[in-house]
Amino acid sequence: MAATRSPAPAVGLDFGTTNSSIARIAADGSVELAQFPTPGSTTASFRSLLYFEQEASAKPQVRSFAGPSAIEHYLAPEDKHRRLVQSLKSYLPSRSLTGTEVFGRRYTVEDMLARILRDLRTGAEDAFGAPIDRALVGRPVRFVGAETEEDAQFAVARLADACHRAGFAEVQFEYEPVGAACAYEATLDHEELVLIGDFGGGTSDFSLLRVGPSMRDRDSRERVLGTSGVGLAGDAFDARLVRHLVSPALGAGSLERSGGKLLPAVPAWIYSNLERWHYLSFLRTRNVTEILKGAMARALEPEKIEALQLLIDEDLGFQLHGAVQRLKYQLSQQETAAFGFDEAGLHLHIPVERAQFESWIADDLVAIENAVDGLLTQTSTAPADIDRVFLTGGTSFVPAVERIFTSRFREGKVARGEAFTAVAHGLALRARQLF
Ligand SMILES: Nc1ncnc2c1ncn2[C@@H]1O[C@H](COP(=O)(O)OP(=O)(O)OP(=O)(O)O)[C@@H](O)[C@H]1O
Ligand SMILES: [Mg+2]
Repeated sequence: MAATRSPAPAVGLDFGTTNSSIARIAADGSVELAQFPTPGSTTASFRSLLYFEQEASAKPQVRSFAGPSAIEHYLAPEDKHRRLVQSLKSYLPSRSLTGTEVFGRRYTVEDMLARILRDLRTGAEDAFGAPIDRALVGRPVRFVGAETEEDAQFAVARLADACHRAGFAEVQFEYEPVGAACAYEATLDHEELVLIGDFGGGTSDFSLLRVGPSMRDRDSRERVLGTSGVGLAGDAFDARLVRHLVSPALGAGSLERSGGKLLPAVPAWIYSNLERWHYLSFLRTRNVTEILKGAMARALEPEKIEALQLLIDEDLGFQLHGAVQRLKYQLSQQETAAFGFDEAGLHLHIPVERAQFESWIADDLVAIENAVDGLLTQTSTAPADIDRVFLTGGTSFVPAVERIFTSRFREGKVARGEAFTAVAHGLALRARQLF
């Protein structure tokens, strides 16, 4: 039996803005997720991160790491020049962003993606004990920042190029929410009309499709009634928390007296670099140090600006973002929580209510709601026509996001899958049909 099969069945690959995973159909027909080693454990969620380091020596060598080992090496206390690159997927549709310079060498977006994808592929090979050279790769319905279909095609072509460079001989693409639908479909013994909502780090994606045993072998074009999406999700919520909570504690909006007038002590662009944590290292320049020095001398609340300078000097963007995410996760569980940050002598403790958080992300929620309602209108579907709403992705844990669905659909209709692995799981099932 095994001898008649292809030696390396295609895997399902979910390359996420924050987390990636790979699944395959095991010999017994079950779906198996690749487990990647972490210190003391394993994980199916491979952080979509790339880390470069350079020894502070006379003949410096640049080393790079991806996924769990990127974080491990980044956090290792050694005297090194360090650079973390994250959310690369968000740059895929941008023609103007071709790459970046790291320690004097230029890397294209494709180089960096390929570096992550190669470790993801070889890590999964180690986990499965089998070679991997073909993959069904997920793509968002709407890429972050893509305005036209050409932008999306450009993004897909870039991702395909990176996959080839990472050692995948053959790749095909499928919508991420269709992947998630296939995971749900595997549990069904009848046909259903389902609405899939996939809320990740970068994108919120929706698909309306028919699923069930009779639909499994159909082409996606036949079963997908419509798709919609918006290029914002968990990363955008984090940025709102930084803007409304963290930045004010670090002097955003603080005033200084200048010629009898009260003016902002620190220019706003400095704080916009806090909203994407990996931009924090861009603030480590002489120019910013000079601006902050002047502001500290004149500001009415100099201690807040001192705290900002400390954050920049100690390059604590990653740690700050971790604290923001912890707060966000707590607010998914409870009505009140506290932002807590204690690093390198910097201590911030700020209580937050879920209702405040929801007011800060209100515009984002409206954009998400519009995408959901737009899909129903565009396909002439009433909520009552839909049998099941299936939510996946880490941001689907945010209660205000879930409410968008529980307020539109009758109780019991809204279900949830494996938040971080449903897409890869379903893509593996779909790959078996497609390849
Ligand atoms: N309990 C939680 N409450 C709120 N947000 C959460 C929770 N757990 C994870 N998240 C958020 O979910 C996001 C990551 O989700 P996921 O791994 O599904 O995204 P992704 O697949 O990497 O991104 P995308 O699909 O947009 O490319 C992050 O923004 C993370 O902060
Ligand atoms: Mg995802």
